[in-house]
Amino acid sequence: MNAFEIFDLCYTYPDGTPALRGLSLQAPAGSRTALLGANGSGKSTLLLHLNGLLAAGRGSIRVFGRAVGPDSLREIRRRVGLVFQNPDDQLFSTSVAEDVAFGPRNLGLNAGEVRRRVRWALDTVGIAALAQRPPHHLSLGQKKRAAIAGVLAMEPDLLVLDEPTAGLDPPGVRQLMELLAVFHAQGRTIVLATHDVDLAYTWADRAVVLADGRLAAAGPAALLEDEELLRAAGLELPVLLKVFRDTGVKPRDAGSANAWIRRHCGRRPG
Ligand SMILES: Nc1ncnc2c1ncn2[C@@H]1O[C@H](COP(=O)(O)OP(=O)(O)O)[C@@H](O)[C@H]1O
Ligand SMILES: [Mg+2]
Repeated sequence: MNAFEIFDLCYTYPDGTPALRGLSLQAPAGSRTALLGANGSGKSTLLLHLNGLLAAGRGSIRVFGRAVGPDSLREIRRRVGLVFQNPDDQLFSTSVAEDVAFGPRNLGLNAGEVRRRVRWALDTVGIAALAQRPPHHLSLGQKKRAAIAGVLAMEPDLLVLDEPTAGLDPPGVRQLMELLAVFHAQGRTIVLATHDVDLAYTWADRAVVLADGRLAAAGPAALLEDEELLRAAGLELPVLLKVFRDTGVKPRDAGSANAWIRRHCGRRPG
């Protein structure tokens, strides 16, 4: 089963800017897909199609087998949670708790269940203490968490995040990645757009690389070991691969890189 299938997707903005020029790709249910590409390559435009916020100019999109279109929008938005690149586009209520409650209430859940979900989502992203604060007074990192809480509270099967780590401090990035690990362990599918190749290489099991609205490559995350492909798409080789270039090993994270160094270089004296 695929979480989504995109066939020949084209999209041109109303001002005439072509953003997607015939994309076909799919993501298996339960996968962690990193969507990579330089600025302007079409990542955000693609993600906005996954829950029907933009309607395909040409081509088709299926989410959990269902075609995205006017008849299916309600079901699609229940199953697909999209976290925008800019939290100011997502947060509009007078308090964080109200904002997080908006989605579950819209699903028609009763007041008790809405309260339970709001509490759980705020706890999960670590901002329970900010529940009564107005969102527009929060820091960028706090706003991002509030926006993520609002989407988690819908308990989506497919979680789509647009540049979720941009603007977060290092502990914020680590907490977000831990949160995504929990979410993934519950059997859900995650798509994360980023131009951070290091993050993608460590986190993802699948990678999709966009260049100028077209698919440059899609497949297992190991395709991020292809320097030529990345260069052509305006991206760099993951730094761990640069460091280990002449060794032939390809560590996926700092822990395995460190283990290799210990094995081959011994411990530092003293
Ligand atoms: N609202 C818009 N109106 C017109 N052009 C847009 C709009 N949003 C994005 N674009 C253009 O569409 C292309 C793809 O943009 P986008 O999907 O935002 O890329 P990315 O998220 O990879 O940076 C770019 O050329 C961008 O300038
Ligand atoms: Mg973008």
